[in-house]
Amino acid sequence: MSIKVYAFYNNKGGVGKTTLCSNASILYAEQNPEKQILVIDMCPQANISQFLLGGGKAGYDNNQKLQSAYSRRNVVGFVDWILKGNADFKLLPKNSTYKVRASLYNEYIPENLYLIAGDSFLESLSLALNYAVINPANISAWKDYMTAIKRLCESEKVSASLGIALHQLPHQGKTFIMPDEKEITLTKNTYEEAVENVEDLVSKL
Ligand SMILES: Nc1ncnc2c1ncn2[C@@H]1O[C@H](COP(=O)(O)OP(=O)(O)O)[C@@H](O)[C@H]1O
Ligand SMILES: [Mg+2]
Repeated sequence: MSIKVYAFYNNKGGVGKTTLCSNASILYAEQNPEKQILVIDMCPQANISQFLLGGGKAGYDNNQKLQSAYSRRNVVGFVDWILKGNADFKLLPKNSTYKVRASLYNEYIPENLYLIAGDSFLESLSLALNYAVINPANISAWKDYMTAIKRLCESEKVSASLGIALHQLPHQGKTFIMPDEKEITLTKNTYEEAVENVEDLVSKL
């Protein structure tokens, strides 16, 4: 089985990462019902998760529920698990609950689209990781962390909405998709043009 990995990334906010990643992953899932799509939300604002989990207040509430579940049913639960000594995992444990099927929360999302939801705590966790990797005693912390994220991508996934820190990212996505603010500020996209842009992108995935 071939797995394609895409990182939607730009260090700047408000350039269209969330919008493009959600539109592209949903359209890709619709056009490829035999494939499984996984969106990994690595943005602490978790907007794409809120959207995929129902949008508006319902989406916000659903994401909060995943965040407050005992083992955090999201990307922070996963990172927490690897930091507990599971960095060399080959597959997620069978009973792991980090991944959710978006259509159970949002009737408009195709059934083959899954989500590892974002979590505001990711911000603090990335600070903690930064401290861990600059501590000379932790000689393998950075390698373990990067290896684990890479394995998660390779074992599970197709697309990601990313946003922690620049130096953490180049290893994740095999292909980078970097929305550019010029698209938003300079081009007065009509709705049809915006749809065409997403269709054009998806046809190249
Ligand atoms: N192609 C586009 N043309 C015009 N407006 C857009 C486009 N893509 C996104 N937007 C709008 O720009 C704002 C920021 O987009 P968003 O996807 O949240 O950016 P980011 O995730 O990079 O912070 C939102 O209000 C969104 O609706
Ligand atoms: Mg965003």
